Amino acid sequence: MIIHIENVMKRFGNNLALDTFSLDVKKGEVIGLLGPNGAGKTTCIRAIIGLIPIDDGEISVFGIHQDGKNKEIKRRIGYVTQELTIYEEMTAKENLEFFGSLYGMTKEQLATRSLEVAKIIGLEGRMREKTKHFSGGMKRRLNIGCSLMHDPELIIMDEPTVGIDPQSRNFILEFVKQLATKGTTILYTSHYIEEVEAVASNICIMDQGHTIASGTLPELIARIKGDAHMLIDVRIASEEKLKALRAIPEIKEVALENNQYHIIVPGGITIIDKIIAEIADQTIVNINSKQPNLEDVFLTLTGKQLRDEA
Ligand SMILES: Nc1ncnc2c1ncn2[C@@H]1O[C@H](COP(=O)(O)OP(=O)(O)OP(=O)(O)O)[C@@H](O)[C@H]1O
Ligand SMILES: [Mg+2]
Repeated sequence: MIIHIENVMKRFGNNLALDTFSLDVKKGEVIGLLGPNGAGKTTCIRAIIGLIPIDDGEISVFGIHQDGKNKEIKRRIGYVTQELTIYEEMTAKENLEFFGSLYGMTKEQLATRSLEVAKIIGLEGRMREKTKHFSGGMKRRLNIGCSLMHDPELIIMDEPTVGIDPQSRNFILEFVKQLATKGTTILYTSHYIEEVEAVASNICIMDQGHTIASGTLPELIARIKGDAHMLIDVRIASEEKLKALRAIPEIKEVALENNQYHIIVPGGITIIDKIIAEIADQTIVNINSKQPNLEDVFLTLTGKQLRDEA
């Protein structure tokens, strides 16, 4: 277990930021922490790293009890902060080397590693420029690069894609997946459901300081028992085919209207090929399908919509 959080309470005055919050993260996992504004994501991260004391409960990282004083824990974590922490008056290279030096890396190590990291974040060639003229996406990538210098085992990314262009966002998502294949453990927070869906092997949905639900994406979707809806338009539909579709055991309901079959299948079951095989001879003109997603999970469990924009 890389992170173990058990029944943690954290108050800011009267405000309960973490409320009996628990979370376990295993080695090599990408855990997506999803929650709306003020859910407690950043507080959770700061408690894991030992930047703030907790009021009750237990946190251990790499099997070591987190008391805020342990330097080893900090040394093995890379933290990508929600706010940019790079220095605009310094070049990209200087920023990378500065953050590496905080971890006691030697001059030679800094020089070699900054080249490697520049490649990883796709900013080779821009290393000698002051970062104040960088685009938002480049700054974000450099911000991530700074956390990678000391080659940490655990990377914690707090909303790493806020306010950036789609290209940089895709770059970061791909990069997270790549890191994961190399065995790095990653905690990734976001409001963007599709990001969490894309990168996380496990998801924890939190709101008001506690866990609403956690598990893999299929597990979460199975929990809300959401249905997939398929709308298939054919040239000439028939009652006979309607009966044949109804006979497919996985199908929950089928309706027919104006040459359109409206088929409802319990979420997580994909039998599109079976359906198509059944009605292929009627000339399919259009297929639309909507699978239940994390948005539906969140909405069902909290009664709230996760906001889409930061
Ligand atoms: N240093 C602090 N002092 C007082 N209250 C705080 C402090 N840090 C966080 N809080 C409160 O704790 C709650 C959780 O905040 P936190 O920043 O952890 O949320 P978040 O999920 O990261 O939100 P966001 O998506 O906006 O970043 C909020 O109500 C916030 O106002
Ligand atoms: Mg936050």
